[in-house]
Amino acid sequence: MTAPTRTGRGTGTGLKDPSLRRSLALFRAFRHEQDDPEGCYSLLARDAADQVEAYDGPVKGRVVVDIGGGGGYFTDEFRRRGAHGYLFEPDVRELGDKPPGSAVVADGYLLPLADGVADVCFSSNVLEHVTDPQTFLSEMVRVTRPGGLIYVSFTNWLSPWGGHEWAPWHYFGAERARARYRRRTGRPAKHTLGENLFAVHIGPTLRQVRARDDVTVVSARSRYWPFLAQAVAKAPGLREFATWNLLLILRRCP
Ligand SMILES: C[S@@+](CC[C@H](N)C(=O)[O-])C[C@H]1O[C@@H](n2cnc3c(N)ncnc32)[C@H](O)[C@@H]1O
Repeated sequence: MTAPTRTGRGTGTGLKDPSLRRSLALFRAFRHEQDDPEGCYSLLARDAADQVEAYDGPVKGRVVVDIGGGGGYFTDEFRRRGAHGYLFEPDVRELGDKPPGSAVVADGYLLPLADGVADVCFSSNVLEHVTDPQTFLSEMVRVTRPGGLIYVSFTNWLSPWGGHEWAPWHYFGAERARARYRRRTGRPAKHTLGENLFAVHIGPTLRQVRARDDVTVVSARSRYWPFLAQAVAKAPGLREFATWNLLLILRRCP
């Protein structure tokens, strides 16, 4: 993700989730990620905050921590809704030139937070960028209070978007896809498999979270799909290709 500046937008998308209107609005915004990152990420942030509130009620007055939140669009949105929002991001380049005042440079593996301080622990599209997703998740669970909500979404490797900027050519091999990207754009790709992008799969991830005794799985669904958002994530094999991006809603056990 680049680190654009932002101007601030209203609260809530007013779009039903899931619905075709919402998915089309998100899709259009993604298509303009490069030329209108502000529009793209502020819509995505309002949409994600709507999802958190749909599962957990208003965030107003709650402590919401955003792990790997990049330039802070999500944290800004939570704060706009009255939450005590804090951003933890290890890469200062990702923070950009207008990070939220509550931004902390910190790694998601080792958060400078006491146990159970967060009402909501939030992470959007970070899990596929860490070498050890289970340790990353454990740290999210640790900082969440008993009964608190954990929001984790990630693009799985076999998703049509799994290769990120070199997708969908990753289906033919990561190295070949990266080389193609460079040839076509004249720029080196941002992501390298095994360095800052990892092949995370839905089936094993679900089995690992379901085996945990410190969280319950409230929902495992496609984040962006307009219909059958839950059903698609249930079909072994098919889900690896069709889900696009898995959204896990977990609740910390008391
Ligand atoms: C694709 S960006 C996602 C940014 C933002 N959350 C979003 O959804 O637009 C991935 C982010 O994960 C961050 N990241 C990578 N490794 C991390 C780690 N170990 N702990 C926390 N964040 C990490 C990167 O610095 C980057 O900001």
